[in-house]
Amino acid sequence: MRVGIIGGGLMGREAASAFGRWFALDAKSLPVRAELTAVCDLQTSVVDWFRQVPGVRLLTQDHRELLASPDVDVVYVAVPHHLHEALYLDVLRAGKDLLAEKPFGIDLPAAERISEACASSGRFVRCSSEFPFLPGAQRVIETVRSGRIGKLLEVRSCFWHASDLDPSKPANWKRQVRTCGEIGVMGDLGMHVVHVPFRLGWYPVRVYAQLQKIYTERPDGRGGMAACDTWDNAMLHADIGVEGREVPMRLEMKRLAPGATNTWSLEVLGTDGGARFSTAEPKTLWTFDRIKEQAWSRTDLGFASVFPTITGGIFEPGFPDCFQQMWAAFAAEWAGVLGTKFGCVTPAEAVASHRLFAAALRSHHQKAAIAL
Ligand SMILES: NC(=O)c1ccc[n+]([C@@H]2O[C@H](COP(=O)([O-])OP(=O)(O)OC[C@H]3O[C@@H](n4cnc5c(N)ncnc54)[C@H](O)[C@@H]3O)[C@@H](O)[C@H]2O)c1
Repeated sequence: MRVGIIGGGLMGREAASAFGRWFALDAKSLPVRAELTAVCDLQTSVVDWFRQVPGVRLLTQDHRELLASPDVDVVYVAVPHHLHEALYLDVLRAGKDLLAEKPFGIDLPAAERISEACASSGRFVRCSSEFPFLPGAQRVIETVRSGRIGKLLEVRSCFWHASDLDPSKPANWKRQVRTCGEIGVMGDLGMHVVHVPFRLGWYPVRVYAQLQKIYTERPDGRGGMAACDTWDNAMLHADIGVEGREVPMRLEMKRLAPGATNTWSLEVLGTDGGARFSTAEPKTLWTFDRIKEQAWSRTDLGFASVFPTITGGIFEPGFPDCFQQMWAAFAAEWAGVLGTKFGCVTPAEAVASHRLFAAALRSHHQKAAIAL
């Protein structure tokens, strides 16, 4: 699978790192070799960083040149949200497959147009969301699927950041509606909190949203101030339909979460059992089983990755690992060998996330719960 990257910033470099150590993945379990062959970014300094990456044969500042390359099968596009639609459509028109970054277009209409283009092009398209590939997250999913939790009581899925608590942190494209989208933090962090619930079939039938905008301007990095008009924090109180009942599900997306660096967590509670995992404790799985006494048990996890690697089973995983695992899942599905393993976000799930976030905007505006 020969990959080209459009957008070599934070995530483009992370992807290069994932391909650079692809040999760590067990070839028998994943019979797909991936290599990074081409990179495009508008900035010369960004493009130059990739000169040190083995295997990269094409470096360009024009994405059309990358898309014309016969050395590229799949394109990873990691650019600001207002550019998603145009670049994703160009990728599909060029006959390439796509791993799109979230939120899959700046808003719901853009996501719907992208999704239609995916269907009509027949290309293989998935969207990025890596945390579910961590061993702890997989164990929560397994616990739910095993049926051990009994009747579902509630679900909580969160992604918290704290770096924006510092008002002197300069503005960037993620703080402005024009480039990040009106959905703000939901576009930035939302795909991460809906991926697992959607995959488990938990789609909201109703949502009540609390959105907060705290800092309305930040240093622009040139001595002045820039307006910041996106939502900083979003709490979505949703109902999901499960076995003819409604079950509460809370989705939290926060840029202003005191004490949280990049903390993704998932908690599922049922009448007979429950499971909880947070990246704040990357080795820890908490499980609850209804016995006589009220007790949560703590399991010290190892490196039980979805796709086996050379890494010792007792070692602990981190962000670069789950990001590589997500790419492994993409490659496996691309090659038709994913089987029953957990897969990346589909275009339909991405559109559903936008439908939810658009309803959340309406909910906040009307101060009312919105039916979906
Ligand atoms: N999966 C994750 O965990 C995760 C984390 C952060 C960001 N993201 C997503 O990744 C995407 C990019 O975010 P980022 O933090 O890497 O941004 P970034 O600002 O660090 O990088 C974006 C890069 O895109 C380049 N670019 C802009 N327009 C371009 C064009 N027309 N052609 C080629 N290059 C172009 C910029 O020069 C920049 O280097 C966004 O969709 C964001 O939501 C995902």
